[in-house]
Amino acid sequence: MAGLSEGNNLDPWYGHYAARTTGLSASEVRALFAVASRPEVVSLAGGMPFVSALPTELVTSAIDRLMRERGPVALQYGSGQGAPELREQILDVMALEGIRGSVDDVVVTTGSQHALELIAKLFLDPGDVVLAEGPSYVTALVVFRSFQAEVSHVPMDEHGLIPAALRERIAALKAAGKRLKLLYTVPTFNNPAGVTLSWERRLELLEIARENDILVLEDNPYGLLYFDGPPPHAMRSVEKDGVVYLGTFSKTLAPGFRVGWALAPHAIREKLILANEAAVLSPSSFTQLVISEYLSSADWRAQIDTFRGVYRERRDAMLSALAEYLPKLSWTIPNGGFYVWLNLPEQVDAKSMLPRAVKQLVAYTPGTAFYADGNGRNNIRLSFCYPTPEFIREGIRRLSSVITGELELLDTFSQTGPLTRITAERNVTSPPPNLG
Ligand SMILES: Cc1ncc(COP(=O)(O)O)c(C=O)c1O
Repeated sequence: MAGLSEGNNLDPWYGHYAARTTGLSASEVRALFAVASRPEVVSLAGGMPFVSALPTELVTSAIDRLMRERGPVALQYGSGQGAPELREQILDVMALEGIRGSVDDVVVTTGSQHALELIAKLFLDPGDVVLAEGPSYVTALVVFRSFQAEVSHVPMDEHGLIPAALRERIAALKAAGKRLKLLYTVPTFNNPAGVTLSWERRLELLEIARENDILVLEDNPYGLLYFDGPPPHAMRSVEKDGVVYLGTFSKTLAPGFRVGWALAPHAIREKLILANEAAVLSPSSFTQLVISEYLSSADWRAQIDTFRGVYRERRDAMLSALAEYLPKLSWTIPNGGFYVWLNLPEQVDAKSMLPRAVKQLVAYTPGTAFYADGNGRNNIRLSFCYPTPEFIREGIRRLSSVITGELELLDTFSQTGPLTRITAERNVTSPPPNLG
């Protein structure tokens, strides 16, 4: 067989893959899903929405009506840009975050993940630089890597990405002759950090991007899932030419539909449609039209409110369990979304601690998954979206015992005396000054 001579024992096609696949390694999150799905493990690892909070009859009645009234259309190929009626409704959804756009500039994709892939395909050549928050959404990093781009992480604090740090980084990269293409940001209820970019900083980042000719990729799956009051409006609400905005129904409805969208500047929109057609011909007519039926017949705003209530209760359960069981550590306090970012004592490596955590029946995502540069060693992303409040509490209790055990282990092997004391300096109530 061709290629055998260049192969190895595991994969006879090794050596045949395109160079871009070298970045395609299984993420830490992915490997975890298998382990964490065992029922006895409290998983604080994945970002699965709690879809059981969506009454199934809302979906079945939308499907039923669709099939009775427009079955052949729902089962047919559709437009590469997405169903026009759904694109109109997407404008209503985005209006809740201050965005006014044209239906012509909305492109429906197979989840917002697919929009990330398409934008990367349109803009990234090998060696191009994507500026991104540190930490950043893990599967966006996988996409950028698969187009052989370099990701340069810019530090965040509790108000999101730090503009001065961005300016400095851009200057340094330009001085090194790098091509800067995108600023990728999850400004609202960041995955994984849970923090939200302030309004002032949104304006400042847009200005920096404009001055430096960098396209902003604003990824906003969580913006409508706020707990203590609405977040600042989307960056796209004030800048239409320099921002590609990504939205999705995955978190406010259900991810199984695989329907997301991009709102792109007019010129980019053309190329995006062509890329979408090249990849999938047309996004699923069936799921788009089910969602369209649902949006036109159900009280979807009230349903989002229900989700907010569910996740707020879980966020509260996580924060109070952290305060109770890990009072010496620090973490972020999210006003929405799915995630808390936990700072471990400096000497603890979250990734090497993970097998011991799973043995004690709790799973989390190690911070290194969210950096392209090896950072995040002593950070953990904790998800509060899926387990019940009781399980969250139990999960944090188990985690505290894992961390205590880890510190004792390190103490035993340390030659410099007890390390545990170092953690006593940390402050519970205030978020960490710098997430990087
Ligand atoms: C920041 C971010 N972007 C994009 C996605 C992809 O979402 P989907 O493809 O389901 O729309 C996720 C999913 O967790 C996410 O957290």
